[in-house]
Amino acid sequence: MKIAVIGTGYVGLVSGVCYAELGHEVVCVDNDSAKIEKLRRGIIPIYEPGLEEMCANLVLDGRLAFSESLQDAVEEAELVVIAVGTPPKENGEADMRYIEAVAAELGDHMNGYKVVCVKSTVPVGTNERVRELIAARYFGPFDVASLPEFLREGTAVHDTMNPDRVVIGSDSERAIALLKELHAPLTPNLFVTDIRSSEMIKYASNAFLATKISFINEIANICEKVGADVDDVAKGIGMDRRIGPSFLRAGIGYGGSCFPKDTKALIQIAGNVKYDFKLLKAVVEVNRHQRFSVIDKLEDALGSLDGMSIGVWGLAFKPDTDDVRESPAIEIVGKLIERGAKPRVYDPVAMDAFRRGHDHPAITWCGSALEAARGCEALCLLTEWREFAEADLLALEEAMNRPILVDGRNVFGGERIGSTGFSYYPVGRPV
Ligand code: UGA
Repeated sequence: MKIAVIGTGYVGLVSGVCYAELGHEVVCVDNDSAKIEKLRRGIIPIYEPGLEEMCANLVLDGRLAFSESLQDAVEEAELVVIAVGTPPKENGEADMRYIEAVAAELGDHMNGYKVVCVKSTVPVGTNERVRELIAARYFGPFDVASLPEFLREGTAVHDTMNPDRVVIGSDSERAIALLKELHAPLTPNLFVTDIRSSEMIKYASNAFLATKISFINEIANICEKVGADVDDVAKGIGMDRRIGPSFLRAGIGYGGSCFPKDTKALIQIAGNVKYDFKLLKAVVEVNRHQRFSVIDKLEDALGSLDGMSIGVWGLAFKPDTDDVRESPAIEIVGKLIERGAKPRVYDPVAMDAFRRGHDHPAITWCGSALEAARGCEALCLLTEWREFAEADLLALEEAMNRPILVDGRNVFGGERIGSTGFSYYPVGRPV
């Protein structure tokens, strides 16, 4: 199959690479010529384990190419996948500018029957809008389909090649058949529905996962007060198949480019049809506050933070990514600075990304985890990188001025901490 993927962000790039890996001929298109130039030279703009190597091999094999020309790629393709960004507007609504521009341009370059599918996360009704925009300029036959994406950063290639399910939303048998053929080698779980339900499935999935996280975080806050252990509570409730064990890790809340954006967008979508999505508003509110539990614990341990050196382990919104978008670390470091503290920060891969957007003279950028802890009055762990979980706690204790550890991700078990002199503050667990 000849496929054009429009947009080389996370979703576009990973999808393009994986379709090529399945044996198709893929051209990834982007209007950012510098980015295309880099991709042609094998430089991948995102940190995603395994992607760079796969990409290089597929380009060598001639199955994957990069282009600035939407026209060339689309004219050749039988399937066009739109994967451009839908960043949040000021009011939380998804900004449809890029999707609409691509749809209009597609209308100019369609030269025969094609299936146009939208992988970007888009409000209900967008696929129909895409159809209208194309049909306003191109009078031949084509179909649209919604093809929501469920990959996670850091495991994007694995998620795409081993999906729990593939959702296809379309009213065209021909489009459904083509998309079934494309995804058949990946999973037997192909779920076909109408376009609007498919668009809704994406938002509802992310909103539900965010709800699980805020739920367990509130349970953790209560556990701290009643002397229960949230990790055991999560395990105990997760054994009920109706609840399931995943996404019940208590911590400092969710970040990233998806949950914060999509929860707010769904609240906005509901608001547009005069529905007050109270539950999801609470989920967002709980998440906004959860991160500051780290500051409360530091203040519990130290009193005032003014003038204190505080070590910060982890800046990325989760491990195995250099992405710091909406990372809880941004506001935590900001609050530390506001309280007069001097953060000494370290992250195995996200230092540059964090520094680009959030540099401040009060921050000391450290070259290693131990360096960040050196001479500190307390250390807080914000991202559960494996490197931190495997840290030598005795060396750590020795490096610090006072052995106070606020573990925002419950990385350390009581046994490991028990053999040290640390005052330990986990989330929702007795010390
Ligand atoms: C999320 C979804 O998991 C994907 O299915 C979806 O495709 C993607 O958004 C998207 O819409 O593009 P992602 O943002 O990459 O993927 O990351 P997750 O692994 O879901 O983690 C999101 C946040 O939740 C992280 O900050 C993580 O630390 C937090 N989290 C996750 C918890 O605090 N507790 C948990 O139990 C799980």
